[in-house]
Amino acid sequence: MTGERPRPPHHLAVREAGEAAFAFRVPLPLHRAIYVSDAVGGAATSLLILAEILGESERNNRREGLTSALMRHGGQFLQIIEGRRTDVDRLMDRLRVDPRHENLRLLSDVAVSGRRFGDWPMILAELTPEAARLLNGEALDQLSPARAETLLALAVGIAPVPA
Ligand SMILES: Cc1cc2nc3c(=O)[nH]c(=O)nc-3n(C[C@H](O)[C@H](O)[C@H](O)COP(=O)(O)O)c2cc1C
Repeated sequence: MTGERPRPPHHLAVREAGEAAFAFRVPLPLHRAIYVSDAVGGAATSLLILAEILGESERNNRREGLTSALMRHGGQFLQIIEGRRTDVDRLMDRLRVDPRHENLRLLSDVAVSGRRFGDWPMILAELTPEAARLLNGEALDQLSPARAETLLALAVGIAPVPA
C-alpha cells in the first residue's frame, strides 16, 4: 500500500469537481443556447445531409466538450447546445455561416449550473409520439424556450411524459 488514493476515471473526476463547485455555490462556467433555423434545400429532408451534420457535430463537440441535441422537423432545425461559453459562442459563429440553414434565431442563451443534455456530444432528437403531442402541430419556431427545451428532452427520453 502506498497510501495514495486511486484516481477516479476522468468523467468521475469531472463530476466530483462539479459537485464540489456546487457545494460552495461557485457557478460552473456553463452556457446553454437554443436556436431555431430554416433548413435550406436538401437539408430539409435529406438523410445524407442530416447524417453529415450529425457526424461532424459529434466529432467536433466531443473535442470541444460540447453536448447537444438536434431536431429536424417541418423544414426547421431546433438545437440545444451546452458547454463553456467560449465554445458555445464559437460554434454559434460557425452555425451562422453554414449554408445548410438560414434565419438562425436564438430562443435562449443563458448561463446554467449544470448540463441537462450531458450524455451526448450530439444526439438526434426524433419526434416521438410524446414529443409530437407536446408540439401539437405547431412549427418548431412557435415554441417558447421552455417548451423547446422540454420537447428536446422528451424526444431524447430524459423528461417525464406530460399528462
Ligand atoms: C443544423 C446544424 C447543426 C449543426 N450542429 C453542429 C454542432 O453541434 N457542432 C459542430 O461542430 N458543427 C455543427 N454544425 C456544422 C457547423 O455549422 C460547421 O459546418 C462545422 O462545425 C464546421 O466544422 P469543421 O470546421 O470541422 O469543418 C451544424 C450544422 C447545421 C446545419
